[in-house]
Formats: sequence, structure tokens, C-alpha cells
Amino acid sequence: MKFLELAKSRYSVRKYSSRGIEPKALEAVLEAARLAPTGCNFQPQRLLYIDDPKALEAVGTSTKFLFGAPAAIIVCYETEASWKNLEGEYIGITDASIVATHIILAAAEQGLGTCWVGCFDKKALVKALNIPAKYEPLAILPIGYPADDSAPSPMHDKRKPVGEFVWKNHF
Ligand SMILES: Cc1cc2nc3c(=O)[nH]c(=O)nc-3n(C[C@H](O)[C@H](O)[C@H](O)COP(=O)(O)O)c2cc1C
Repeated sequence: MKFLELAKSRYSVRKYSSRGIEPKALEAVLEAARLAPTGCNFQPQRLLYIDDPKALEAVGTSTKFLFGAPAAIIVCYETEASWKNLEGEYIGITDASIVATHIILAAAEQGLGTCWVGCFDKKALVKALNIPAKYEPLAILPIGYPADDSAPSPMHDKRKPVGEFVWKNHF
């Protein structure tokens, strides 16, 4: 699929089939996570792939947005393993966001649905999964094949025109 077609057709999937994820499809998604660019190539992303129903149930104590997906990827970063910008700030959150973006697009290419979930109780998630203190969870990505009647929410088509957020040469 051409990139813009893929970007246009990807949408946040909020209804999943129970079908297990094909190993090759998962491999492609994780490879896309591996190939993502990161500051100074420090690769501070740390991912947790969850498909055990009990572990998914534990994740469910931190968010109501799992949508019955058969699996989830918890995208974390190791703050101190990330590059520091000229202001001395660790930029792991930026790296992890790029990784998560690669994941959701690669998943769409594989016929898989995902939804970026930022609305979760961080303390509950850390407790549920024993996430080491040095890892910062950024996003939960439920992942699986969309249900037959899955459809984009009305928000999917509501994008501002380019002219509303791009300026040329000066603001
Ligand atoms: C940083 C971020 C956090 C989000 N958090 C949630 C969330 O907690 N729950 C949810 O259902 N959708 C969440 N979304 C999905 C957005 O609502 C969705 O991407 C947006 O409405 C555009 O729709 P689309 O993805 O279908 O194109 C999040 C998306 C992003 C990028």
C-alpha cells in the first residue's frame, strides 16, 4: 500500500475479533518498532507484548480502553537511556512516540487494528505489570484483527486542512 493510502485508511480500532495474531504479522510490527529512528540512535524503547488473558486482565485494571483486543503492546522508554537535548532534557518520550507510530502504521499494513491509548492509570499499570522504575510507560496499544463490524469513529475524518497548521517562512 502506498504510504498516504495507508495513513488515510488506518483508524483507531475499538472493536476486535478474537482471532490470534499471525506470527509473521507480529514479527513485521515489531520489526517496524526496531527500525524507528531515535535520538542519537540510542533506542531507549522498551516494549512489553501481552497476549496472556490474565496479564491482559491485569492491564485492564489501569484502563477501560482495551476494547476486547486479544493482545496489547505496552510502549515504554528508559528515560536515562535516551539522548539529552541541548536543554539537558531526556527525549525518550519523543523516541517512544515515534516507535508507537511505526507500530500502528505497520500493524495497519498487516491488516491489524490498534488504538493508541494514553488514558491509563500509570500507577495501576506499573503495579499490574511490575514495570521497573527506570521504564516509563507511554502508551498502551491494544492490537488484533478488527471485528467484522469495526468502523472508524467520526473523529477519524475530522482533520484540519493543511493551511490551518502550516505556515511558510514565517508565522
Ligand atoms: C496520544 C494519544 C492518546 C490517545 N488516547 C486514547 C485513549 O486513551 N482512548 C481512546 O479510545 N483513543 C485514544 N486515542 C485515539 C484518538 O482519539 C484518535 O487517534 C483520534 O481521535 C483520531 O482518530 P483515528 O485514530 O481513528 O484517526 C489517542 C490517540 C493519541 C495520539
